[in-house]
Amino acid sequence: MATKGSFIKQFFKDKQMVGAVAPSSRFLGRKMLENINFDKAKLIIELGPGNGIFTDIILQKMAPDAKLIVFELNEDFYKALSGRVSDPRVEILHESAEFMGKYIPEGVEADCVVSSLPLMVLPEVLRVNIVNTSHKVLKPKGQYIQFQYSLQSKKLLKSIFSTVSIKFTARNIPPAFVYTCHKA
Ligand SMILES: C[S@@+](CC[C@H](N)C(=O)[O-])C[C@H]1O[C@@H](n2cnc3c(N)ncnc32)[C@H](O)[C@@H]1O
Repeated sequence: MATKGSFIKQFFKDKQMVGAVAPSSRFLGRKMLENINFDKAKLIIELGPGNGIFTDIILQKMAPDAKLIVFELNEDFYKALSGRVSDPRVEILHESAEFMGKYIPEGVEADCVVSSLPLMVLPEVLRVNIVNTSHKVLKPKGQYIQFQYSLQSKKLLKSIFSTVSIKFTARNIPPAFVYTCHKA
């Protein structure tokens, strides 16, 4: 697994893309993933895995016939993650999250999008595009789960999803809010 040191290095290379100085805690990972019905989910999308802290938990919990598609734009994180994770259920792409629609087979809808993207530091057009595209690829009642270090994303997420609930955890550096959004 990539170390905390390598995470900080990536932060200083590209603050806007990485958006955090340290990887998330496993506790935040569990909070992010606790409402996913892993028995039923057939397609999960992950945006911005970094060193793969959430990827590992998703793969542990996912059904044997489920698929995980992961989008990571940072080349070093992409190479480290695809070098270490070899599970036939996962596809790791060196691609920006806004293009996720291109990689989902015709007629297939996702059960869940798990996003760690630093939404509020992305340019507005990209931010809105990624959240709209996530909504579009989800099946009805599908979930978009996003963590952020502030409540600033609430307005955008409420404008796109039919319900948005927010949990807070102090057991992460920095403390984080987990947004769980549902498509109608
Ligand atoms: C805050 S880090 C989260 C990393 C990890 N999931 C965690 O929680 O520790 C944000 C991640 O999003 C990635 N990222 C930023 N913009 C992206 C984009 N447009 N498409 C895909 N990944 C992106 C960054 O490279 C970084 O790995």
